[in-house]
Amino acid sequence: MGAEIVGADLLAAAAALAAGRLVILPTETVYGLAADAADPRAVAAIFEAKGRPRFNPLIAHVDGVDAARRIAVFDDRAETLAAAFWPGPLTLVLPVREGGSVCDLARAGLDTVAVRVPGHPIARALLAAFGGPVVAPSANRSGRPSPTTHADAIAETGASAAAALDGGPCTVGLESTVVALLPGEPARLLRPGSVTRAQIEALIGPLAQAQGDAKRSPGRMALHYAPDAPVRLNVTAPEPGEAYLAFGPGAAGEAVFNLSATGDLAEAAANLFSYLRAADRLKPSAIAVAPIPSEGLGEAINDRLARAAGHIG
Ligand code: TXA
Ligand code: MG
Repeated sequence: MGAEIVGADLLAAAAALAAGRLVILPTETVYGLAADAADPRAVAAIFEAKGRPRFNPLIAHVDGVDAARRIAVFDDRAETLAAAFWPGPLTLVLPVREGGSVCDLARAGLDTVAVRVPGHPIARALLAAFGGPVVAPSANRSGRPSPTTHADAIAETGASAAAALDGGPCTVGLESTVVALLPGEPARLLRPGSVTRAQIEALIGPLAQAQGDAKRSPGRMALHYAPDAPVRLNVTAPEPGEAYLAFGPGAAGEAVFNLSATGDLAEAAANLFSYLRAADRLKPSAIAVAPIPSEGLGEAINDRLARAAGHIG
């Protein structure tokens, strides 16, 4: 019975996409706001719903590497990373394939396209039912923390969606790692994520940094992922009136949210955005955040925190 209900929801969501409507979609990283990548009017509705600047391109989600090759041009590096990490939280920015179906607006007019094969079973089932590339930015309003629960996604952009699939809390909790692989250029890390720099470099060699390069990484502005309260980083002793995002054993108290009492970075990543939201709901004078180690997944967590605090341009 439960499976049939999910099946009916999926078919309704696929039909909504085909009709040019928007759908809230769970993925393993964060919830997305999905549309048919080939339909410029549906894609325009995404930019509208998010309040997103149109120069910031979207990620096309497909249900496998064959579908990815139909919209993007793969080199050896891309083949290697796709084989290692798809389905999963890795996005590749590649030259767009001529005749591919991702519309110009979705790519912000660029001659590149961002593509990923998500791992979440509901995302995969929707992609299979729909049968074409689906663009899905994080389902937050532009500049706000990405939603990692069904309820948070609905609170952000649910009013613009014809359907909202529930996949439970996101297991990764941070948006996908984004790597650009363009002809004649070194591989570039555009956005750190849970597929770490070290995991990628072990397969394709050193990654160049893309920081501050607005043209290559159009969506990476300062004050991204920001709650309403100001955010203070590397705080070991919060002030009265502040909410506190702790990390590691020992911290407790009324306005304390421990990202991981055991100091586990994967757990901290999964909790980060929902705890930022929960802390923000207390309307504190500021959200103070404990120091987070920067190795491995810590690079992505610290990237999002620095943007929440407005520290990265
Ligand atoms: O985990 C994720 O990637 C989630 C889930 C829903 O799949 N989606 C997501 O989408 O985070 P969004 O739109 O919030 O972030 C996409 C990022 C932006 O920083 C955007 O600028 C970058 O990817 N991007 C997209 N296309 C690009 C391109 N052609 N060149 C460079 N950067 C691109
Ligand atoms: Mg986003």
